[in-house]
Amino acid sequence: MDAAALADLALDIAREAGDLARRRREAGVAIAATKSVIADIVTEADREVEALIRERLAVARPGDGFLGEESGAERGTTGITWVVDPIDGTVNYAYGMPHYAVSIAAIEGEPEPPLWTALAGVVHNPATGETFSAVRGGGAWRDGQRLAVSEVGGAGALVATGFGYDPATHAGDLARVAKVMPLVRDLRRGGAASLDLAYVAAGRLDGYFERGLHPWDHAAGALLVTEAGGVVTGSPHGAPGREMTVAAGPALHARLVAAISA
Ligand code: IPD
Ligand code: CA
Repeated sequence: MDAAALADLALDIAREAGDLARRRREAGVAIAATKSVIADIVTEADREVEALIRERLAVARPGDGFLGEESGAERGTTGITWVVDPIDGTVNYAYGMPHYAVSIAAIEGEPEPPLWTALAGVVHNPATGETFSAVRGGGAWRDGQRLAVSEVGGAGALVATGFGYDPATHAGDLARVAKVMPLVRDLRRGGAASLDLAYVAAGRLDGYFERGLHPWDHAAGALLVTEAGGVVTGSPHGAPGREMTVAAGPALHARLVAAISA
């Protein structure tokens, strides 16, 4: 399997999809529906952008599987599945904050995080024009520049988190923030998990943790982090996923996992 070719395809499609998302944003955005709770929204643009990505992939690689946030899953016959969030950071998008992304990953194996191997991943922010990409074994890149995670191990670390939409989990989220704050310089809540992970890969954040992520939130971003020399796990071990995702350089990762698990 030529992972670099998969990444090139994801790059082209993410940029086209990002242009569509940006044009729709400029034309004005309305919330189409709330999903699980009031914070969990979808716009017409989310659906339209996912439809475009799905169609382009089906034409370029018929037989591959698909797992998308808005239009669901379809098993393929090639062993490759595309894991797609058409607009990650939908609340930012709806409010006009230029911090949202198209996230596209190609994975091999079962389309569940503990069982898959990510081969290629792209996170593209249409508002800034930045594109982060990674190929398994080929490093992580931002628009031609190779990325490396920071080496900050603790005090002085800038760490991001997020709060899943399920209100029942918010008390736990805040308790984890209280455990992590004494270790770090400051905390960010950017509102787009794929960009949080891309920023860890780029050394713009030293670390990131969040409970409640879906596969499409972290599929591409986690590969960016590992290809940039970082570590991404659940907590304390295993694959990232619903229960927990922790991403950082090796030293800080160990400290974050210990604090969160304490
Ligand atoms: C959400 C964002 C947010 C994170 C949520 C995600 P969406 O994705 O990544 O930062 O805190 O857990 O669901 O709904 O904007 O695609
Ligand atoms: Ca989304």
